[in-house]
Amino acid sequence: MSVKIGFIGAGGIAGAHVAGLKKMADVELVAFSDVQEERAARLAADTGAKVFTDWLKMLDTEQLDAVYICLPPHVHGAPELACIERKLPFFVEKPISNDLDTATNILGKVRRAKVMTAVGYMNRYRRSLQRGKELLAGAKISSLEGHWLGGTPGAPWWYRKSQSGGQLVEQTTHIVDAIVYLAGRVTEVYAVGAKGTHPNPPEGYDVEDATAVTLKFASGAVGSINSACSLRAGGGVGLDVYSPSVVLSYRDWNMSLKATKSRLETEDVRGEDNIFEIEDRAFVDAIMKKDQSLILCNYGQAFHAHHVTMAANRSLETGMPVQLADFV
Ligand SMILES: NC(=O)c1ccc[n+]([C@@H]2O[C@H](COP(=O)([O-])OP(=O)(O)OC[C@H]3O[C@@H](n4cnc5c(N)ncnc54)[C@H](O)[C@@H]3O)[C@@H](O)[C@H]2O)c1
Repeated sequence: MSVKIGFIGAGGIAGAHVAGLKKMADVELVAFSDVQEERAARLAADTGAKVFTDWLKMLDTEQLDAVYICLPPHVHGAPELACIERKLPFFVEKPISNDLDTATNILGKVRRAKVMTAVGYMNRYRRSLQRGKELLAGAKISSLEGHWLGGTPGAPWWYRKSQSGGQLVEQTTHIVDAIVYLAGRVTEVYAVGAKGTHPNPPEGYDVEDATAVTLKFASGAVGSINSACSLRAGGGVGLDVYSPSVVLSYRDWNMSLKATKSRLETEDVRGEDNIFEIEDRAFVDAIMKKDQSLILCNYGQAFHAHHVTMAANRSLETGMPVQLADFV
């Protein structure tokens, strides 16, 4: 048996998934859809897949076992709902939306229809995160400090707040998800933002140049996250987790880990380079075996990180802390 896959959205991240899926003998890439036909055609080349500019037509005419939804944040909603109606398993890239209502509506319908889902928070598949969780077992986290500091990505939707939701929602959400994976539920968020520090913002740029977010956790821990997208000089990606018995230090996009248990006892876990392929293999295996537990981040598990970033955006707007329980 092979798993027949169709894509909605055929841009950069779709290409990364296709590169891994093409290596899998039990996967058939059947169709690609994108409003920019040439993008769908580029990914379809060498696969024999059909090309569509209308994803609904693709869903209505092709026999698919699963769909990858690789769209910018502001166009989520209808594609997921169409997959749910058809009971089609779907993999959707993070962020799951640029607002809370769309994601809440999809989550309710996914749960009712019991459709298999996966969300592209790929760091959950990393050995470094899983090892961090093992090392933290039984320890109480005191505090966490995360950052995502860099330049402005080139896609125009990225630097328009009404489309991407801003850097926290679109990019730093990976750090937020790693934080909630390791430290559990966030109860309160407070955020401040910087504007006017970008040396050469592109036309249409209206996101914050930088944000600082403080977090309170149900466990009693506290955390902070710094983000910036205006830095020509670079910066980097990282997360430090402090507990009395172990300190976890994650660095770089691949979330390589240095764990310190005492001054003399440290452990290193290098981040995998082929993480999208690992994540895609898990999704395909889950479909083949009809076993959702092989997927380490389903829609419900992804929702909390999204909730936290949307609460941070609300705090940016109001200047007030936001209790997650009141922000639904
Ligand atoms: N997991 C990761 O590390 C990772 C990395 C990169 C991007 N992403 C996420 O993937 C998503 C897409 O990012 P990207 O870099 O591929 O963006 P992109 O701009 O390269 O590609 C998006 C594609 O969607 C198409 N599109 C837009 N609206 C459409 C619609 N209504 N119907 C069909 N196609 C439509 C565009 O034409 C474009 O080809 C974003 O949410 C981003 O955050 C995740």
